[in-house]
Amino acid sequence: MISSTTFILTILATSLSATANVIRAGTTNSTKCISAIDLSLQNGTPVGIFDCNTSYNEQWVIKKGETKVQVAGTSFCLDAGSSPQNGVGLKVWQCYDNLPAQDWYWTDDNRIALKDQGFCVDVPNGNLTSGAQLQIWKCTDNNNNQVWTQ
Ligand SMILES: *[C@@H]1O[C@H](CO)[C@@H](O)[C@H](O)[C@H]1NC(C)=O
Ligand SMILES: *[C@@H]1O[C@H](CO)[C@@H](O)[C@H](O)[C@H]1NC(C)=O
Ligand SMILES: *[C@@H]1O[C@H](CO)[C@@H](O)[C@H](O)[C@H]1NC(C)=O
Repeated sequence: MISSTTFILTILATSLSATANVIRAGTTNSTKCISAIDLSLQNGTPVGIFDCNTSYNEQWVIKKGETKVQVAGTSFCLDAGSSPQNGVGLKVWQCYDNLPAQDWYWTDDNRIALKDQGFCVDVPNGNLTSGAQLQIWKCTDNNNNQVWTQ
């Protein structure tokens, strides 16, 4: 009994940790990733571009379809604020369920959209310089500034 419980918990823990990964700007061989820019996370810490590395602030839990975008092992989520419009900067905020600002949809063509609101995670001017804060912008087809992969 004890050993089968342990076995199940081990499988659960393995599958949960397997979902934490970097999110790359552009194609799967991109070296630029989504990062909570400050290592000590708090409400309002900006989210931007940084060289992909293994630091915890680049490890996100995200899944295709409707999803939170959560910094793995923390209670912080990608948040677009309460008044979404072109150019609003992205940040992390304490995760809440059913909060439109944190309710994302990762599409089959690799856009991360605010669910049902028409705004996508976007690299301002396509500028991938490390430290640049990300924004939301109207989702547009075939826009390389809005492509996110693992
Ligand atoms: C990297 O991605 C680009 C753009 O999709 C592609 O043309 C190139 O072949 C890829 N390189 C490797 C090594 O996968
Ligand atoms: C990894 O990137 C983060 C920003 O995402 C940065 O704060 C951290 O210092 C980097 N770590 C290393 C080892 O370069
Ligand atoms: C890209 O962003 C960096 C840092 O914010 C800035 O110094 C640089 O001028 C920008 N480059 C362009 C082409 O806008």
